[in-house]
Amino acid sequence: MEEKVMKKKRIFSGIQPSGELTLGSYMGAIKNWVDLQDAYECLYCIVDMHAITVRQDPATLRRRSVSQLAQYIACGLDPKKNIMFIQSHVPQHAELSWVLGCYTQFGELSRMTQFKAKSQQHADNITAGLFTYPVLMAADILLYQTDLVPVGEDQRQHVELCRDIAQRFNGLYSDTFTLPEAFIPKMGARVMSLGNPESKMSKSDPDGCVFLMDSPEDIMRKFKRAVTDCETAVKFDKVNKAGISNLLTIYCAATGKTMQQAEEEFAGQGYGVFKPAVGEAVVELLRPIRKESQRIMQDKAYLEGVYKEGADHARYLATKTLSKVYRKVGFVAK
Ligand code: TRP
Repeated sequence: MEEKVMKKKRIFSGIQPSGELTLGSYMGAIKNWVDLQDAYECLYCIVDMHAITVRQDPATLRRRSVSQLAQYIACGLDPKKNIMFIQSHVPQHAELSWVLGCYTQFGELSRMTQFKAKSQQHADNITAGLFTYPVLMAADILLYQTDLVPVGEDQRQHVELCRDIAQRFNGLYSDTFTLPEAFIPKMGARVMSLGNPESKMSKSDPDGCVFLMDSPEDIMRKFKRAVTDCETAVKFDKVNKAGISNLLTIYCAATGKTMQQAEEEFAGQGYGVFKPAVGEAVVELLRPIRKESQRIMQDKAYLEGVYKEGADHARYLATKTLSKVYRKVGFVAK
């Protein structure tokens, strides 16, 4: 019988080091990445070049990029199984981004809802970088012939644009890029703000947001203050009980219990019992992650080894795609 070696599908994703990692980034993204690392060939990138599309403090950005890597590892991403690297270490991202920008319409970029939102938030600093950010993201994805892009719903439009750019380029110059697909895991818990459960947990709202590196005291305080409603029942009802539903989602994700189990556990008990219980579950979930991140952060040589090796590997793959692109558009070979 003929044996066929199935090539693993390739995955690329990234998180901006524009803030500390949150419980939302863990439950919605990183936890899923950990589950994907055996079945797929994964690249996980710390997208520092995306972060500077809005102002960053240089020292903070530098520190966060490295601590984000330490936290990825502490969450269970194995640098031996995944290619983990810092975007600015692989210049091919910027190079491909320039080329792709010449195959992207101004009108397409103007329609990006994230651009519209961010240019309102940063009305005093609407840069060309903020505008062309989706082109850089397309370059990230296409450089590695990515099959699947695990992202949140808010990034779907950017992945669609990436596909359009790839298709256009392939149409003009014959097959060059794999057409990627957004990979939005059904299971990924969408964690909402503790202070405003109608909106996503966001690092720009520190009180409603739990950070992976928060101390147990901070975590407990934030959960005890979480916004609920004026009823008493611990029941999942997204429309009428957004706060309680969010806490239940977090509790289930932290403990592995089902929604039904959680509701039964707290039946007849008030929010005064429920809220600290969720806090404690999160404290226990994050305790080993925080401890391990702190340990890894002490080992600068190890971390440097991981991101250098990651970048070497990424650069090797990226060079293959970029040379193909340069040849196709008509640049003279070096
Ligand atoms: N734009 C993404 C975000 O803000 C981050 C990102 C940059 C990304 N490049 C990527 C995600 C490539 C997936 C693939 O969430």
